[in-house]
Amino acid sequence: MSRNDDIQRMRQLEQELDYHSQRYYVDNAPEISDFEFDALLRELQDLEATYPEEADPNSPTKRVGSDLTTEFESVEHRYPMQSLANTYSSEELGEWIDRIVKELGDVEFVTELKFDGTAISLCYENGALKRAVTRGDGRRGDDVTNNVRTIGTIPLKLRGEGYPAVFEIRGEIIMPYASFDRLNREREAAGEPLLANPRNAAAGTLKLQSSQTVAHRGLDCTLYHLAGDNLPYTTHTEMLSVARGWGFKISDHTAICRSREEVEKFIAYWDTERKALPYATDGVVIKVNSYAQQRTLGSTAKAPRWAVAYKFQAEKALTKLVSVDFQVGRTGAITPVANLEPVQLAGTVVKRASIHNADQIAQLDIRLGDMVYIEKGGEIIPKITGVELSMRPTDSKPFEYITHCPECGTELVRFEGEAKHYCPNQSDCPPQIVGRIEHFVKRKAMDIEGLGGETIELLWQNGMLHDIADIYHLDPVQLASLPRLGEKSAANILEGVRRSKDVHFERVLFALGIRFVGETTAKYIATHFLSLDAIASASVEELAEAEEVGEKIAHSITDYFANENNRRIVESLREAGLKFDMEIKQPTSNALMGKSVVISGKFAGRSRDDMKALVEEHGGKNLAAVSANVDFIVAGENMGPAKRQKAEKLGVKILSEEEFMALIEGAEPIETETVAEPKTEAEAKPIQGTLF
Ligand code: IVH
Repeated sequence: MSRNDDIQRMRQLEQELDYHSQRYYVDNAPEISDFEFDALLRELQDLEATYPEEADPNSPTKRVGSDLTTEFESVEHRYPMQSLANTYSSEELGEWIDRIVKELGDVEFVTELKFDGTAISLCYENGALKRAVTRGDGRRGDDVTNNVRTIGTIPLKLRGEGYPAVFEIRGEIIMPYASFDRLNREREAAGEPLLANPRNAAAGTLKLQSSQTVAHRGLDCTLYHLAGDNLPYTTHTEMLSVARGWGFKISDHTAICRSREEVEKFIAYWDTERKALPYATDGVVIKVNSYAQQRTLGSTAKAPRWAVAYKFQAEKALTKLVSVDFQVGRTGAITPVANLEPVQLAGTVVKRASIHNADQIAQLDIRLGDMVYIEKGGEIIPKITGVELSMRPTDSKPFEYITHCPECGTELVRFEGEAKHYCPNQSDCPPQIVGRIEHFVKRKAMDIEGLGGETIELLWQNGMLHDIADIYHLDPVQLASLPRLGEKSAANILEGVRRSKDVHFERVLFALGIRFVGETTAKYIATHFLSLDAIASASVEELAEAEEVGEKIAHSITDYFANENNRRIVESLREAGLKFDMEIKQPTSNALMGKSVVISGKFAGRSRDDMKALVEEHGGKNLAAVSANVDFIVAGENMGPAKRQKAEKLGVKILSEEEFMALIEGAEPIETETVAEPKTEAEAKPIQGTLF
C-alpha cells in the first residue's frame, strides 16, 4: 500500500466511522456490530499513528461519541464523562495489567461486569437527585432528569447519612430482557419497527418526550463510578459499598483480583454465566482499586489509564437454515437473507439472518438444511458466521445462487471487484424504482415529508410515480383521491415537494442516488465542480481530481450520465426548478481576501463551522491541511501537536481565536456598487465556495 492509498483509506474510515457513530449514538439504529466498529476504529488509530500529520483533529478516534438531540436542554458536565479504553484480546489485557503492576508494584484490581446500556450521570445535592444528564459528547449531555426520575431503582432522596453535599454518581441505564421483549412484542403488534437491542432501547427510551411512557418501559440503573471534589474514600470498593448504603443499586458481581490469572478467571466465569443474567452485558471492566493509585496513573484525553474494558466476543447460537430469500436494493444490489428455525440468541428469538453475498455463501459453503452459527452484532438481523459441518445432512448439495432477479427476472450481473450481484434493470425493476425514490426524498437528501415508503409504493402501484422526476408532476386531485391519503396528506406532500426546490445543490447531487456517491462525497464533488453540468460533462480523469473521488466513484458518475434515461430525469428535474449549482456567498469584507486559512481545534466563542463561515464571509479560503500554501492557522483549544509542529516547521503563523477576531472585526464592509464588473472570463469565474 502506498502512502496515498493509506491516506485515502484514512479519509474513508473517518467517513464510515462518523456515519456509524451517528447511527449508533443519535439514531439508535446501528448497522454494524461493536466489534466491526472497533475494528474500523483501530485501523484508523493505527494509520493515524503512522501519519500523525494527516490525522483530522475531528477524527472519530478523538470522540467519545455523542447522543445530543435537540429536544432536551444541553448542559455541561461538572466533570467530563470519559469513555474506557477497550480490548477484545486477553493478550492486550494481560499487557495492560503487567504494565500497571510494573509501574505501581502492589496493586489491587476490581473486576466488574460491563453493562450494555447507556451511560448516565446523576447529580445529587444535599441528598436529593438534582439532575440526570446523558453522556452526550463527554463534555455536554442532555438533561433527561424527568425521564430518569421514573426509574424505580434510582433513589430520588438518599438514605442514611454521610454522603457528600454535592456529588455526581455515574452508571448505566439498562433495559432488562423482560422489558425489552415486552416492548418489541408491543411494537410488532402495532406494526412499528423493532428495536435492535436492549442498549438502543434504553438509550431511545431516555430520549422520549413523555416521561409517562418512560415509566412504563421498565428501565433499570446500576451505578459504578463516583465523581466529586475531595471525596473521603480511599478505594473504589469502599465507595461502592458506601453508595450501596445510600440506596443506589450497585452490582454484586464484582471481585478483587490481585493477578492477571485472577482477572482471567473472572472473565472466563462471566463469559458463560452472563447468559443467565436478566440483562445484557458486553464485557468486563477492570479498574485499579486504590484512588491514590488511580490518581498516579491519571487519564488520557479520552479515557482513564486506571481502567480498561475487556469485551466479550458476540454470543453465538446454532440453528437450521430453512430457506434463503433474495432482496433487491435501490441500486439493484442483491442481498440474500436466511430464514432460520427460530432460536434464542442473546436474550431474543431469532428467525432471520443476513448473509452478505454469494462469495460468503461459497466461502462458508452454506447449504440449505445446514446447521449454522449465528451471531448478533448491533443490527436487528444477526449474521450467519459458520456451518457445523459435523451435522450436515448426507444428501446436502452446494447452494445454487440465483442467476436472475427475483423481482423482474432480468439476468444478474457482477461488476469487477464487487462481491454483490446486481440486477441491471434499473428502469423497470420495481424495488429499484421504489428504493431510488425513497432515497431521493429522505431527510438528508430532498427531505420531502409525507412521502414514506408505503406512500411511494402506493403511488407507484397507481402509475403515478415511475422515477424521481415524476415527484414534481404529481396531480393534486389524483393524489388526494388515493385510498389512505386524503386531501390533508396530499397537500402535505405537495408542500414538501415545493419546499424541496430550495434544497442546496450538494444534497440534490446526493439525492440522485448515483452509486458510491454518498452524502460526503457529494459535498466534495459539488464543491469541486460547482454545477451539475460541470459534473455531467467531466471525464473520469477530471472527476478523479476532486477530493475523495477515486476511479470507482468517477466511473460510476460517468456511467450514470451516460445513461439516456438518467439524462432525461436530470433534465426534467432541472425544468422543475431544482438547484443544479453551488451557491457562492459573496464576501462581506476584504479582510481575508486571497488568504488561505486552516481552522483547527475547539473554540470558546463559536463552533468550528462558524469560524470557517467567518473566513469565507471575509473573503478568505478554508483549507483542511497545513501546507506551505497556508497563510495562517487559527488554533483553538487542543489543536493537534503534529499540526502545530508542522506549522512551526513551515513558518506558518498561528493565531488565537481573539487575534483572528481582532483581524476581521474592524474590517470595512464591501460596498456592492464598488465591486467592479468582471472584464475577462477568468475574472468572471465565481469564487470557489468551500464547504469544509
Ligand atoms: S467505568 C471513568 N464501569 O462502558 C470510567 N463503565 O465503554 C467510567 N460501562 O462509558 C466508566 N459498565 O458507559 C464503568 N462497570 C462499568 C461499566 C461501564 C458499563 C460503560 C460506561 C462507559 C462505557 C465504556
